[in-house]
Amino acid sequence: MRDIDTTELEISLLLEAVYQKYGYDFRQYSEAHIKRRIMNSRAMSGLENISQMQSKVLNDEAFASKLLQDLSITVTEMFRDPAFYRSIRENVIPVLKTYPFIKIWHAGCSTGQEAYSMAIIMQEEGLYDRTTIYATDFNQLALSHAKEGIFSNSMMKEYTTNYQLSGGKESFSGYYTSSYDNVIMNQSLKKNIVWANHNLVTDSVFAEVQLILCRNVLIYFNRNLQNKVQRLFYDSLVNGGILCLGSKESLRFTDLNEDYTEVDKKQRIYKKDY
Ligand SMILES: C[S@@+](CC[C@H](N)C(=O)[O-])C[C@H]1O[C@@H](n2cnc3c(N)ncnc32)[C@H](O)[C@@H]1O
Repeated sequence: MRDIDTTELEISLLLEAVYQKYGYDFRQYSEAHIKRRIMNSRAMSGLENISQMQSKVLNDEAFASKLLQDLSITVTEMFRDPAFYRSIRENVIPVLKTYPFIKIWHAGCSTGQEAYSMAIIMQEEGLYDRTTIYATDFNQLALSHAKEGIFSNSMMKEYTTNYQLSGGKESFSGYYTSSYDNVIMNQSLKKNIVWANHNLVTDSVFAEVQLILCRNVLIYFNRNLQNKVQRLFYDSLVNGGILCLGSKESLRFTDLNEDYTEVDKKQRIYKKDY
């Protein structure tokens, strides 16, 4: 008998089934992340083993949708990591100001908080009227939530603190209207955001942009897939365009490390070389 870990084999067959039947490709996500999520999903579903999940995924679309949600982590915040947004204001905005029209791509935008944060900065810098923000994710539920722009009131204290720490000088409450337990983001912020379904693994370049932000997404991919997605970002950026990965991700181990110049070492902000 071959020395193969049965659980790993079952996971690989399950991911193959998801890909072949639904087109979602998790085969090159980080093994530890995928294993943790699948084990958790199996326990919640009450099924005995992963092979049973495979059969259910192939025959029950509702179960497959639930599994897709389980495999996607959508945690996010407005002005998440305020120091990152401070660096955007200091180091990236002056570059964007040099362009007559500005296109920004938020890849893996989840429920939209990052895109709204960027819209606020662009408005405060007087650049929003000439800006289009493409905010993409492969999770349709998260995207629908993002498009509505309705968030829980209970989050606003934290978001306000983040905004202030990021260098925001206005009153954060001016950017939304409260309605019972929720807030709704202003229409003036939504107007130049284009929400779109885009899968970083299987879809290709859709626009040439001056700025790409992709934070807390590549950490779930293995090295090979990170390389592939970095190539997609490189091909989507104009020469001199800016790539923002945030403090958890880096270009260091990718094939494109030599093709960018570091703008902010800590926040992992890079400029594509001419
Ligand atoms: C943890 S959230 C990060 C959200 C936001 N960028 C932030 O840093 O706050 C990760 C997001 O990446 C998305 N994602 C994961 N794999 C993806 C893929 N292959 N294509 C597009 N989005 C993906 C998930 O759906 C999720 O919304």
